[in-house]
Amino acid sequence: MSSGSIPDPDRKAVTLTTLAERKALGEPIVMITAYDHPSATVVEEAGVDLVLVGDSAANTVLGYTSTVPVTVDELLMLTRAVRRGLRTPMLIGDLPFGSYEASDEQAIMTAQRFIKEAGCDAVKLEGGGTSVARAQAIVRAGIPVMGHVGLTPQTATSLGGLRAQGRTAARASQVMQDAMDLQAAGCFAVVFEAIPAQVTDLVMEHMEIVVIGIGAGSSTDGQVLVLHDLLAVHHERVAKFVRQFADVRSETLRGVAAYTAAVRSREFPGPEHAYSIPPEELDRLRAHPPRRDAPAYDW
Ligand code: KIV
Repeated sequence: MSSGSIPDPDRKAVTLTTLAERKALGEPIVMITAYDHPSATVVEEAGVDLVLVGDSAANTVLGYTSTVPVTVDELLMLTRAVRRGLRTPMLIGDLPFGSYEASDEQAIMTAQRFIKEAGCDAVKLEGGGTSVARAQAIVRAGIPVMGHVGLTPQTATSLGGLRAQGRTAARASQVMQDAMDLQAAGCFAVVFEAIPAQVTDLVMEHMEIVVIGIGAGSSTDGQVLVLHDLLAVHHERVAKFVRQFADVRSETLRGVAAYTAAVRSREFPGPEHAYSIPPEELDRLRAHPPRRDAPAYDW
């Protein structure tokens, strides 16, 4: 789509084939998060390729301090709202912490809920190690899977906090291994989060599947950012890899403060916001006001 505001009715739905073609042609893939219907309609109109209802919803819209507590049911409700606002981008559901790690069966059942109950096209899970087997099991059950390596917020405590990963040769090698294992497990794509650009450049030589970066340099096949970070919807500190393309919180605050002042000063609502009744109907009403002690007037 050439314009940021005019929806292109001819834009075709993004498929796994579209993504593979984009990678082959070297055309950057745009991914973003969304958590509700209005923002889904905006990202649809802006022409993004992939939409993730991330477990970052825990922080961005549900007020948790990490992604760990968010539940499958909470994410399913948000994901269904996003589904109703999308037509062309591929919709990816994020499997939250505790919903896939225990067994292949648990992973398949959770992934199926995102497909059946929320209309997702694919699911994402975090980490290498045992997550590789879980990813493979879901893929074998017929559901496309996106992996996620480097900084994996669900297990940030064991990674030493929300910090860049792969800054030593040993840890970089582990991240590379995780990415290649997820590729071998049949994932259609993998997110690289917060890893040095030079490490990304090295891993990219081995990646045949689509790689989406967030704080992983510019050599990936595409980029993802959290919607609420790039729009500055909240006032929390954002990671080094975020660019704020708009300041929605300031604009929202300006609007709500103006509304508050207008109501307090009785400047709002004005006559243009009021409904009216024809004068003759008002006269009839005045002539026959309802009375407690009398039967209702027969209009
Ligand atoms: O939950 C999320 O928003 C994510 C993206 C940062 C990739 O996992």
